[in-house]
Amino acid sequence: MEWWKKAVVYQIYPMSFKDSNSDGIGDLGGVLEKVEYLKELGVDILWMTPIYESPMDDNGYDISDYYKINPLFGTMEQFEMLLSVLHERGMKLIMDLVVNHTSDEHPWFQEARKDKNSKYHDFYIWKDKPITDQKSFFSGSVWEYNEETDEYYYHLFSRRQPDLNWDNPEVRKEVYRLINWWLDKGIDGFRMDVIDLIGKIPEECVMFGEKSHVYLQEMYRECFEGRNVFTVGETSFATPISAPLYSAKERKELTMVFGFEHLGLEEVRGNGKWDLKELDVNELKQVFKVWQNALHEKGWNSLFWSNHDQPRIVSRMGDDKKYRKESAKMLGMILHGMQGTPYIYQGEEIGMTNVKFPLNEYKDVETMNMVKEKQEDGWTMEKIMQGIYAKGRDNARTPIQWNSEEYAGFSDHEPWIKVNPNYQEINVEEALKDPDSIFYFYQELIQLRKKYDIISTGDFELLFEADPRIFAYKREHEGETLVVLANFTGEEIFCDCKQEISWGRGEVLLSNYHRDKVDEQMTLRPYEGLIFIR
Ligand code: NOJ
Repeated sequence: MEWWKKAVVYQIYPMSFKDSNSDGIGDLGGVLEKVEYLKELGVDILWMTPIYESPMDDNGYDISDYYKINPLFGTMEQFEMLLSVLHERGMKLIMDLVVNHTSDEHPWFQEARKDKNSKYHDFYIWKDKPITDQKSFFSGSVWEYNEETDEYYYHLFSRRQPDLNWDNPEVRKEVYRLINWWLDKGIDGFRMDVIDLIGKIPEECVMFGEKSHVYLQEMYRECFEGRNVFTVGETSFATPISAPLYSAKERKELTMVFGFEHLGLEEVRGNGKWDLKELDVNELKQVFKVWQNALHEKGWNSLFWSNHDQPRIVSRMGDDKKYRKESAKMLGMILHGMQGTPYIYQGEEIGMTNVKFPLNEYKDVETMNMVKEKQEDGWTMEKIMQGIYAKGRDNARTPIQWNSEEYAGFSDHEPWIKVNPNYQEINVEEALKDPDSIFYFYQELIQLRKKYDIISTGDFELLFEADPRIFAYKREHEGETLVVLANFTGEEIFCDCKQEISWGRGEVLLSNYHRDKVDEQMTLRPYEGLIFIR
């Protein structure tokens, strides 16, 4: 079995992870300090969001030099040191590849915007006038006026993130060059930012086109062929049909993909992420079922609840107050029992929660642009704030709570974004002291994947499919069966397993209530979950 099929990835958002030089911003020195902690958790691969030189309009997803480390985060020497420290411990490091767009401060764009005749002009997408009324993901038109050339350039994200023109072979050559440069340094692969968008057709408002497959295959040949590295595509528009195309081994595109369908279910369809609706658990179950089946033996999946763009999962789908620990563990269990490579987002392993800040404490460019736009659209401030509390990206970006000291032990300087006020109760130090913590539960989830091949190989079948209170499924492989059974509610529920699980008993591998045997009929306590095998 390929090594990454049993691996677990930990995502680091360096700005908010740990500050080592007292400027209130997390950095590479901070990551170095915490390698042992991550080793103890048991993760295999670290994915670091962008640490390249950047004006930080979108916290590093706007790169102005792909070959330099942003001094806010440290130096190239520190980066190399981190890489070797990780390798010494048998861990791997993947970087973020942001090549759908650059920063407007990238020298290519600086040249492009000054001079129509520069070779860099065609590195970006230009029109004499806005030819569509397409909206950018961060509000406003995708077309932005450029005075020097009297033209409009195209940007899917902020206006400071102009999209690269992937149809220009020179652009692709430059991208492959930088990928190879980092791979030659010894990194273990990339997470590729919005990589399905490189196949866009701006003239037709098509955001993901067939071309993305063609370009990814070319990239594979130019950069990845023959190297034992790992790639994961952030393919926001991937479907159960396109995901296997991206990730089937023989197609030589990506190792795996992130699908987002399970995280778009609390939105009024077609209205964008801020218009909220309640989660229908059965719909969630169906989405997982379809994705698990679509990729089984056809491609490879990523399993994730959280990242730096998503709210905290325990606040989102669990109960972040009374049953915080129980529900965080249950959610971890549901995800880690599936087929795919799990991703743990920093702080998830201690059950960090969403925040409710006053508007002036939010930092994210997406949030700030949205507030302006929705006010113009006539939304009430109350509805806007509800959207931010539920979906704002800053929920995931508050500093990691290391201990109960000032600034949660993240820094000894006021952090760039406020600390979640619950840091005295929820922090790493507490979690490490408590044998029953979410941290140790995640540690066990990681170990289970290593020990039981069936988690990586088994097929997937929902149990109690029509019951929205229960999230349960069965994995089978060569006569072995593993079951994950969970109460998705904050109430006690009666569960008649006989009906669904014909073979009855099994050996409990993990339980968030220390249940040690499976009965044919069980009362499941609030958010109770268990994994058992036969
Ligand atoms: C997806 C990243 O995860 C997000 O943080 C960023 O804002 C956009 N891509 C644009 O790069």
